Amino acid sequence: EHLAPSLERARQEMLVDDEKEYASKQIPAHKQPLDAAFFSMPERLLAEYKADKTGSELGRILATAAMLKSQVDRVVVLGIGGSYMGARALMEGCCQPYYNELSRADRGGCPRIYFEGNNIDNDSSQGLLHLLGSKPATSVDDRWAIVVISKSGETLETAVAFRQFFAALEKSTGSREAAAKLVVPVTGTSGRLFDLSTAIGCQEKFPVPDGVGGRFSILSAVGLLPAAVMGLDIITLLEGAAAMNEHFRTAKPAENVVLKYVGLAHLMEMRRGANIRVLSVWAKSLESVGLWYDQLLAESLGKQLMGATPLTTVNTRDLHSRAQQHQQGKRDKLFTNVVLDKWRFDALKVGKSDLDQDKLNGLADKSLCELMSAAVEGTNAAYKEDGRPTADLKLPASDEWSLGQMFQMLMIATVVEGRLIGINPYGQPGVQKYKAAMQKILAGK
Ligand code: PA5
Repeated sequence: EHLAPSLERARQEMLVDDEKEYASKQIPAHKQPLDAAFFSMPERLLAEYKADKTGSELGRILATAAMLKSQVDRVVVLGIGGSYMGARALMEGCCQPYYNELSRADRGGCPRIYFEGNNIDNDSSQGLLHLLGSKPATSVDDRWAIVVISKSGETLETAVAFRQFFAALEKSTGSREAAAKLVVPVTGTSGRLFDLSTAIGCQEKFPVPDGVGGRFSILSAVGLLPAAVMGLDIITLLEGAAAMNEHFRTAKPAENVVLKYVGLAHLMEMRRGANIRVLSVWAKSLESVGLWYDQLLAESLGKQLMGATPLTTVNTRDLHSRAQQHQQGKRDKLFTNVVLDKWRFDALKVGKSDLDQDKLNGLADKSLCELMSAAVEGTNAAYKEDGRPTADLKLPASDEWSLGQMFQMLMIATVVEGRLIGINPYGQPGVQKYKAAMQKILAGK
């Protein structure tokens, strides 16, 4: 209640910015106080698709994914930061566990997905290149493709990996021309990667829209193309995000999940010093969703000596590594649990055994889902007893609809919180510092 007027003001400002972005192109980008282009992107992409199923961006993404599905067994997705975390979160969140190990039929005919260009790691790059093999590909089963994602086209990690993996792809396909058909860039409308992919002769390119920063780009081609290649339902993903937009626009502050989340996090930080924001995901499939949010929060609001520190924990796993500190360490944390209402597979019972040395027969009829619910409840109760604040975010399931909502919710929340504390969430000037220092070292200065 105390914060409602400020939250309401932040919401209105954000909606006005969004309108400026799309309704009036008269306002030059540099004069817009904050850049809200990511906000209405789900609705815009869906409307364009409805009007034109083949020529729209979504239509082209779906066609490209179908082409890759028919041509290759593996796709290497190159990208880092906002050009990587979203695709990974979508894969772990929505694909079956052990997706890459499944047979092609069990993957719905979709290619296996590998991520590179997200580090400077000799062994990881070499490991994947060895796995892909250097022999000329003779069938779909040993053919592979590259999706290279870089908004600026200048990011060292991704650019170096693209050079190396494209050289390997040329060898595997036997010619530059054939390799070009298996490279799909997602990049700005100009820049080094744009020029390079034009020179290579790539047939299809996808844009990262102007005004959509890397970590806000998951629901653009940056996340949608890899998602479509994995066989995910990108229409439902966007519809989930659009539903969250509608909720954000229309729900009263007291019922508005975005405003409630921001209000709670902000108050806990200001009044209780909870400047570590722990996102406790209670499912392994959500770990990368948490890491995606770590980046979003850290890079957006960690400026001018402000911004909460994000930390993802995967429970119950991390109850065995972090819970001691979380239960009895410094009182500087807010725990937000992300809990699934429904699991992908039917509930697996512990099961009865004639070997009861493990003393588990008393739990024989309980399922893993029930054990998990008890762990969530028990942990919340233990934290509560000690006056440690928790909040629950309930996800109907780890699927496209729910995650579409959640990604959008957290992106909007980050911008609203930025407005509340007076931080521009876009841009990451601090990241440039290490790059400049590293370039100097490489240039021998
Ligand atoms: O959020 C951001 O803007 C960054 O994390 C970028 O996504 C990251 O640095 C990669 O940049 P690019 O897509 O230009 O290669």
